[in-house]
Amino acid sequence: MKMRWWEDCVVYQIYPRSFQDSNGDGIGDLRGILKRLDYLSMLGIDAIWISPIFISPMADYGYDISDYRSIDPIYGTLDDVDLLLKEAHARNIKIIFDMVLNHTSIEHPWFIESRKSKTNDKSEFYIWSDTIPNNWQGAFGGKAWTFDEQRGQYYMHSFLKEQPDLNWRKGEVVDAVFKMLAFWLDRGIDGFRLDVINCIVKDETFRNNPKVVGSRPRPYDMQRHIFDRNRPETHARLRRMRKLLDSYPDKMMVGEIMVENPGEPELASSYLGRDGDELHLAFDFSLTQTPFHAQPWKRNAKRWSEAVGINRVPTWVLNNHDTTRLISRLGGNIAKAKLAALFLLTQRGAIFLYYGEEIGLPNSKVPKSRLEDPLGKRYWPFHPGRDPERGPMIWSTSKGYGFSDGKSWLPFANHADKYAVENQMTDKNSMLSCYRELISLRKGDITLKKGITTYLDTKNTHVMVYIRKYENQERLVLLNFSSRQQTIEESSLSGNWELKYSIQRMVEDSQDSGIFQLQPWQGCIYIKNK
Ligand code: NOJ
Repeated sequence: MKMRWWEDCVVYQIYPRSFQDSNGDGIGDLRGILKRLDYLSMLGIDAIWISPIFISPMADYGYDISDYRSIDPIYGTLDDVDLLLKEAHARNIKIIFDMVLNHTSIEHPWFIESRKSKTNDKSEFYIWSDTIPNNWQGAFGGKAWTFDEQRGQYYMHSFLKEQPDLNWRKGEVVDAVFKMLAFWLDRGIDGFRLDVINCIVKDETFRNNPKVVGSRPRPYDMQRHIFDRNRPETHARLRRMRKLLDSYPDKMMVGEIMVENPGEPELASSYLGRDGDELHLAFDFSLTQTPFHAQPWKRNAKRWSEAVGINRVPTWVLNNHDTTRLISRLGGNIAKAKLAALFLLTQRGAIFLYYGEEIGLPNSKVPKSRLEDPLGKRYWPFHPGRDPERGPMIWSTSKGYGFSDGKSWLPFANHADKYAVENQMTDKNSMLSCYRELISLRKGDITLKKGITTYLDTKNTHVMVYIRKYENQERLVLLNFSSRQQTIEESSLSGNWELKYSIQRMVEDSQDSGIFQLQPWQGCIYIKNK
């Protein structure tokens, strides 16, 4: 059966401010992305997801949109989008836009109109109340309700007060949003990443969220978010949205599902629809919060994979613009990060990479004076915000590291020279070479892309072991999550296994005894010979 492109794709997320600047203002842009398409093509990715580039006052750096149909001049123009589509498609790369549909900017014409009176055309486009009706909190601090002098009512916002939530119970809102999505689909965009898509519908009677037991630093985390998100009515809206996308050939939507820590895979998978008729893909963030040990990784990978089931497609993600980079969570240990890459690229389904992940780029250190993220500004020093994981890409060792001729909007990672793409390209032991090889291996191997995964319980608990099976093909993956040599001795693994790929030095090339020796942090892929 022909696979749809998103069923086995490798998607590369670009945080556009930080990828490549082309005009010297210290902020990345579309022309910059264009310039790096050959690099991305060389890396072997199938699609690019670009964090929001629409017109925005940038209260939340683009996640507050004031015009969905125009590109913010900081990033470029509609012509640049067309050119990017053309050039990306010529290289067999899809372009996915980040759509923020739960809320707009306070400067969106809909809100400007809505706040004018209780009777205007757009008066019900947002969620208004005469009083603060409940205990809902904003995810970035403070209450979820702000008083608007002009209208004399409170409006609801799940995030900043500059990001009022749209009223998805109003048919006209749904129609207007769908029209806007069609505008981009008609223009040739290949799909959407949907921001906090499980938050769009709120409880009709504004019930209070119940409190959680115990204490947490932020009031937001002190409640169970059952009435300000995950309302059952969301599913019907997603089914309709799916119909819209499916009325075009080959379009895909992947949803960000906002969950309570440390991840709720069953909830995330529910948005794929019981019959696979809602989102094409949904994110599960469990592994961005999982300690780097074989057992918890296996447990969470298995849980997610089972929640999705074999008839739908799982996504795999270790990094994004909202969470400390994996390499920094791993204390900068490249051997561990390569092991994680091997894990990632040998999973079934859609793989999501975050720019810089492929060069082992760590978080930047961002002093208070250079904070940009509203979350960091509010919670500093208890929480540094998300600027550290949004530092500029490092292309070369020259001034501005090939990112910009101007002063970059955020600081570069410390010892930036170490990470330069230019050097890693020619080093076959580099992180970049590891990603490149793994992506290429995956591309040429239907069993790695599509095969069913069986995560094994083995006696040695430091090693994660799984088998991928597709028709009569089998692959065996062994990942040593420890700094010591480990042995895996399992009679069920006896068979004629040929080594296909290994990170770290490999002692034997083939195995038939069911005994495998692994060096510290070694990961390998075997192919079963019949
Ligand atoms: C989730 C996005 O990933 C995050 O960056 C943003 O701040 C919030 N949604 C609000 O849009």
